[in-house]
Amino acid sequence: MAQRLSVSYQKKPCYDIVFSTSFEGLWEELQELGAEGRRLCIVTDSNVDTLYGDAVLKLLEGKCLKAVKYVFPAGEEHKTLDTAKDVYTCLIREGFDRKDLLIALGGGVVGDLTGYVAATYLRGIDFVQIPTTLLSQVDSSIGGKTGVDFDGYKNMVGAFKMPVLVYMNLSVLSSLEDRQYFSGFAEVMKSALIKDAAFYEWLIENMYEICGRDMAVLEQMVMRCCGIKKLVVEKDPTEQGDRALLNLGHTIGHAIEKARNFELYHGECVALGTVAAAYISWKKELLSMEEYYEIRDMFVPFYLPISVDGIDPQEILRLTKSDKKMSAGKIRFVLLKKIGKAFVDMTVTDEEILAAIEEIHFNDEDAHA
Ligand SMILES: NC(=O)c1ccc[n+]([C@@H]2O[C@H](COP(=O)([O-])OP(=O)(O)OC[C@H]3O[C@@H](n4cnc5c(N)ncnc54)[C@H](O)[C@@H]3O)[C@@H](O)[C@H]2O)c1
Ligand SMILES: [Zn+2]
Repeated sequence: MAQRLSVSYQKKPCYDIVFSTSFEGLWEELQELGAEGRRLCIVTDSNVDTLYGDAVLKLLEGKCLKAVKYVFPAGEEHKTLDTAKDVYTCLIREGFDRKDLLIALGGGVVGDLTGYVAATYLRGIDFVQIPTTLLSQVDSSIGGKTGVDFDGYKNMVGAFKMPVLVYMNLSVLSSLEDRQYFSGFAEVMKSALIKDAAFYEWLIENMYEICGRDMAVLEQMVMRCCGIKKLVVEKDPTEQGDRALLNLGHTIGHAIEKARNFELYHGECVALGTVAAAYISWKKELLSMEEYYEIRDMFVPFYLPISVDGIDPQEILRLTKSDKKMSAGKIRFVLLKKIGKAFVDMTVTDEEILAAIEEIHFNDEDAHA
């Protein structure tokens, strides 16, 4: 029996997250949504298509009004309005109307793009998320944030659009490249650090199983993360308050991502940003020195970086301050009161940010001195 969580929006049950280890139960879930009488379009990227595209299409063919697949080249550089336009063209050509359904099969790029198309095609049609990366399973597929990048700016154009179902087949995590998998794990650590100290301890206890992608342990891990994300987005669906806590590590993280031209993966930058945020929390006497070093070193066994070279700390500070997470000229910085308890702080100074960037800056000259 697949496990499930129900997510509410504006206090009403809105969609289920189904946890499974295969695609077998997918059609049954779609039937609950009346899929027999609807056209279905699977939107996926070239990598995921090669691995799972046909298997999922076969599950739908002959059971609904029409089943089609739209494939675009994998990569963040294709999360654009141009790709969205190509999906609109495909939907129009295939005669999709308001009652039809999109299925996002892939990582965060596919989910964000498909959700955006679903929010805008004919002023909104339903969509299902089938997240296939660890990042998308624990984070991006839940909560209804959708969008595309524009003119080099990430997620510049978007909409809040809730999926009608999130179906997770955890076994697809086994085909992820190591670097992608561990990058997604940074968001798992983030979830534990902001909300759940017991989960953080559990992650330490199950480190070997997590690194070895033990399916039973992964199932528990993903479910717990989704539970945390569910609580946060239910309380604050449009990021007026508590949802901002999910940005732990993202303020400095995004700046590093940009400064290093997106060569580092998102989760790797989140790990670095989280170390920096924990450092500021220590310097502000919220965390003890032991807690700071423990958090920092927890990333190491998961192959995540705790220092970075090739950056200019002043540039990172500038980029940090130009990030979206500003309010009336002040940075809304997520800090830790303790492990499992985060809060938004508006008092972090440039000097404190710079000191934290220096802390994670691996300087070649220092190393050779
Ligand atoms: N909407 C939100 O709330 C939210 C939250 C966090 C991140 N995001 C967005 O998510 C995106 C990043 O998502 P991502 O890390 O999943 O990247 P991604 O979608 O680009 O996937 C990473 C790579 O893994 C491949 N892949 C996907 N599933 C696979 C599988 N099972 N096996 C093998 N390869 C697989 C993809 O083809 C791609 O090459 C960013 O655009 C980010 O802005 C959105
Ligand atoms: Zn993130």
